[in-house]
Amino acid sequence: MRVLITEKIAEKGIEVLKKEGLDVDVEVGIDRGELLKVINNYDAIIVRSVTKINEEFYQHATNLKVVGRAGNGVDNIDMDGATNRGIIVVNTPEANTVSAAEHTIGLLIASTRNVAQANAKIKNREWDRSNFKGVELQGKTVGVVGLGRIGGLVTTRLQAFGMKVIAYDPYITDERFRKYGVEKKERLQDLIKESDFITVHTPKTEETFGMIGEEEFKVAKKGVRVVNCARGGIIEEEALAKAVKEGIVASAGLDVLVNEPNTTSLLLDLDNVIITPHLGADTVEAQNNVGVTIAQEVFSALKGKMVPNA
Ligand code: NAD
Ligand code: MLT
Repeated sequence: MRVLITEKIAEKGIEVLKKEGLDVDVEVGIDRGELLKVINNYDAIIVRSVTKINEEFYQHATNLKVVGRAGNGVDNIDMDGATNRGIIVVNTPEANTVSAAEHTIGLLIASTRNVAQANAKIKNREWDRSNFKGVELQGKTVGVVGLGRIGGLVTTRLQAFGMKVIAYDPYITDERFRKYGVEKKERLQDLIKESDFITVHTPKTEETFGMIGEEEFKVAKKGVRVVNCARGGIIEEEALAKAVKEGIVASAGLDVLVNEPNTTSLLLDLDNVIITPHLGADTVEAQNNVGVTIAQEVFSALKGKMVPNA
């Protein structure tokens, strides 16, 4: 059985596959044309968020049995296309959640306290103590959009800072809001109106893409601070840029952009917006967890065994 890996995963994961006797090729960043040319030689592929597994891909992947998503979001994978062809898709939804939650907190504090901007100044040999005033978290209200795995972890961490957490998530039970001691908002607009900080933790779907846009910024508190460590475009990028320029949004911390990789986004020109290149899951622990888990799942799926995250 042959497995192709097109994005970087932990060495430990590759070792698991090899130990199980699979033939593994690692082609990080393989050119799309080349990928489509060779994919019919493989039984499984392991990707992260960049490789697009779409109709065009499936048409070339005539021997493919398993798609392994080394991570959580499956928005780069056409799930119906896989189902129609009997291809199993597996992912690792639990393996990087703590890292993503911690990165969210990092972005929230760094953007609120101008850590990156002040660092850039001092590295430029400028000792500037007058242009970087932030605000405290304690006593402020944070709106969590999507109270799932990462939204839940972020909630408990922000509560430790003395913040009041309100949340919008129409797909979970009231019991989950109670469990986290969070005030439930029935409408997104109500959350937006009341929040000093907003952090989004939904998957990217037709419903969530652009869910925070121009209309939402119109009702937001002046000086609201936003964080997106989920998927690019959940907070609409042009609307965000406009809201930052108008002073409605005081700061933004982003780990994700609509198009990735990306070095040309209009958001890169804004001083109050800090951006990391999709690093939410980039810790030693998360990558080892993800790499080993996806390797075990891909092997099990190829062998026809039960797979927890299929
Ligand atoms: P999850 O499935 O556990 O939680 C998502 C929550 O969003 C669910 O509770 C769901 O009910 C809710 N939701 C869905 N549609 C909604 C809507 N329209 N309005 C409000 N809530 C809605 O997912 P998770 O594991 O917490 O992951 C959250 C996001 O973080 C995903 O987009 C995932 O891809 C992303 N992620 C990013 C990184 C990174 O490196 N930046 C790492 C891991 C995960
Ligand atoms: C995920 O969905 O798991 C994250 O985007 C991180 C990743 O793909 O590495």
